[in-house]
Amino acid sequence: MIVTTKDLFKAAYGKYAIGAYNINNLEQCMGLFRGCLASQAPFIIQISKGARSYTNKLMLEGIIRSAEQVFPDAVFAVHLDHGDEETCMDCINSGFYSSVMIDASSKPFEENIAITKRVVDAAHAKGLVVEAELGQLGGVEEHVKVNEADAKLTDPAQAEEFVKRTKVDSLACAIGTSHGAFKFTGSQGLHFDVLEEIQKRLPGFPLVMHGSSSVPEDEVRRINIAGGRLKDAKGVNADEFKRAATLGVTKINIDTDGRLVWCRVHREHFILHPENFDLRPPGKEFMTAYADFIAAKNEKLGSAGQLGAVKAAMGIR
Ligand code: G3H
Ligand code: 13P
Ligand code: ZN
Repeated sequence: MIVTTKDLFKAAYGKYAIGAYNINNLEQCMGLFRGCLASQAPFIIQISKGARSYTNKLMLEGIIRSAEQVFPDAVFAVHLDHGDEETCMDCINSGFYSSVMIDASSKPFEENIAITKRVVDAAHAKGLVVEAELGQLGGVEEHVKVNEADAKLTDPAQAEEFVKRTKVDSLACAIGTSHGAFKFTGSQGLHFDVLEEIQKRLPGFPLVMHGSSSVPEDEVRRINIAGGRLKDAKGVNADEFKRAATLGVTKINIDTDGRLVWCRVHREHFILHPENFDLRPPGKEFMTAYADFIAAKNEKLGSAGQLGAVKAAMGIR
């Protein structure tokens, strides 16, 4: 059943975080639903602007609507990831999305507020929920590259003013994470001090952590053994998710780690089966591996095992 992120955040706040997973195709969608049901977790499906235009924006919508019927026990929200104003408005008017993210974080503070406010007004008028972003994460997203040194942590006083003026429903904060597979050259922990200060100023308000993939060393090693050429890099320590959740982080975004699973499965498959040219055998292996990966992430997030409680809280049978 499709619900709003607001409903999921109400159930999760202070206790655990909901996994927000980006999907682009049918195989990711099947693996995601299977993994979330196996781990009994509520979840958020994220669709980026790039994913919408990969084939046609209606394709993913059709796949997700079918998944809702194939997996009637699943409880999830459908969210636009890193939207610009035009894409947000398109999603708000589509009647499909539960929430949109307006990402004007690269703009000056006042401009970010003005753009976010326009999206919030349009979304709230139709019962949709909005996530905005303040601060600047490192890494690569939608072809924009921010160097480690140029990343800016969110200023807690600005976060408070931003939320009060825009009336946004959740806020993505830069607290030391980074997008993509090449996050940090050395190890880096989350800035819990910044998170604590934001929570003090915005008690009960849902926060979002982007760029939260762990880039497991073993996954990168296996990809490279199978012919890949990925650089060594450190990701986010998933053992920090639960502490972040107690400080108000209710949504944690993961995309890159899933892409690494896809890459490893396919590279290893074609090395082990050089005679194969059929897409279905590696596709099946990927769906199983992706479902296992999702279930393991949900354990780290604390969302595993919460499906029954969420359904009870929302009166879903
Ligand atoms: O943060 C961005 C997400 O990883 C989506 O990536 O824009 O390549 O689909 P994408
Ligand atoms: P990763 O690149 O760390 O998976 O982050 C994904 C993300 O933030 C999507 O919005
Ligand atoms: Zn992101």
